[in-house]
Amino acid sequence: MTKTKSSFVCHACGAVFPKWYGKCPQCGTWNSIIEETTIVSNKNSSSFPAAAIYPIEELSSEDSERIVFSYHEFNRVLGGGLVPGSFILLGGEPGIGKSTLLLQIALHHPSLKCLYVSGEESLSQLKMRSERIGITTHQTFISNETNTDQIIKAAKELQPNLLIIDSIQTVYSPKIEAFVGSPSQIRQCASEFQRLAKENHISVFLIGHITKDGFIAGPKLLEHMVDVVLQFEGDEHYGYRILRTLKNRFGPTHELGIFEMASNGLREISNPSEALLANRTMNLSGTAVAATIQGIRPLLIEVQALVSSTTYGNPQRTSTGFDHRRLNMLLAILEKRLGLKMGMQDVFLNITGGLRIDDPALDLGVVCALISSYFDISLPSQTCFAGEVGLAGEVRPVDRIEQRVAEAARIGFKQIFIPYPNAKNLDSKLFINIEIIPVEHIKQVWQTLQTQAP
Ligand code: TYD
Ligand code: MG
Repeated sequence: MTKTKSSFVCHACGAVFPKWYGKCPQCGTWNSIIEETTIVSNKNSSSFPAAAIYPIEELSSEDSERIVFSYHEFNRVLGGGLVPGSFILLGGEPGIGKSTLLLQIALHHPSLKCLYVSGEESLSQLKMRSERIGITTHQTFISNETNTDQIIKAAKELQPNLLIIDSIQTVYSPKIEAFVGSPSQIRQCASEFQRLAKENHISVFLIGHITKDGFIAGPKLLEHMVDVVLQFEGDEHYGYRILRTLKNRFGPTHELGIFEMASNGLREISNPSEALLANRTMNLSGTAVAATIQGIRPLLIEVQALVSSTTYGNPQRTSTGFDHRRLNMLLAILEKRLGLKMGMQDVFLNITGGLRIDDPALDLGVVCALISSYFDISLPSQTCFAGEVGLAGEVRPVDRIEQRVAEAARIGFKQIFIPYPNAKNLDSKLFINIEIIPVEHIKQVWQTLQTQAP
């Protein structure tokens, strides 16, 4: 016997309510609540057999059987390759390259059988895209189906290693009556694919769209269900794309892979610091290089600042790739601790390459770029910076300093400013090609730089 149950679900956050609201009481979004009917089956529970149970020491671990792709950056974010039967969510803004990435790893694996189901593009569009990327396998199959029953049936017959669903917002399950892309449809479809993955040893990738202002109807609801959550991000005006691991049941999180979108698909960037600094503007005021850590990798990036007198009343503050509030804080510190008149200046800050960096060690580079622009004096081109800046203007220690210094030395920098507490514990004999300058306060950083100014 079945009965239908009606509930009201918020599209934005997935919260469920017994009645309709104009504004979601949970997340505050307007007009996001829709009615959904669910069919509840009240089958007698005594008709089910007991759950199967297994002694743990007799089970085999899946780690040894990982599928390794020809893309190291991709293997890296998965924690060393794909565990068969894993259930993975790939989220990202539309147009960032999610479809390209997954199609590409499938097309370029010599022996992997893959079923790619697209509810977004026609078969001929997919063929065109595949030709653009280059087809080197005969084992990739494409479908346009959006009904989960039919997709799952096809997958069980084909028995691929990999099933890619592009996207979870376009498929629907005939088992429930809800709109395609609604929270209950997404949850239902995902749980059907989850069962397929676990019972048939097929790795399933779900692609989920997110919008600029966060997750919308989908990816957030699925995070707890899937084994791995990957996020693909980047600035659409730049070629660089970052693939991040937000959750991984089979490996470390905070891993990071870097790609570049080219005319024939995505290219791996195995030496990101060099790539990012390749077009560096030398001997100009307002630029500084910061030694950051992204995920577990050191990454040298260029910070550009422009500080110029305000023409109309309110000074402007614009930052790209760096937290806006943190920029305001650093400006207040410069005003108070170094006496710079930032209140009268427009400030623009840009992290080059279109990357979004949230490493506190970036502070010192940002501060130096700002001061350099304020005084219109360029910084020495072979110098880089790592350090967090505290409210008193003190330079605070950062983590993994050895890795940062080693990367700076490898790229050919001759000098690195690091926090004094870090320098105390650092074995400087290990770094002979780079001069380590310990600093305690931003005042001291600026004094040291002025004595070196060209
Ligand atoms: P796509 O994978 O369709 O993005 P998503 O699935 O995340 O929506 O990629 C979109 C962009 O990538 C599109 O603007 C075209 C561009 N692109 C290239 O620059 N080179 C290529 O080889 C391919 C296939 C796409
Ligand atoms: Mg797509």
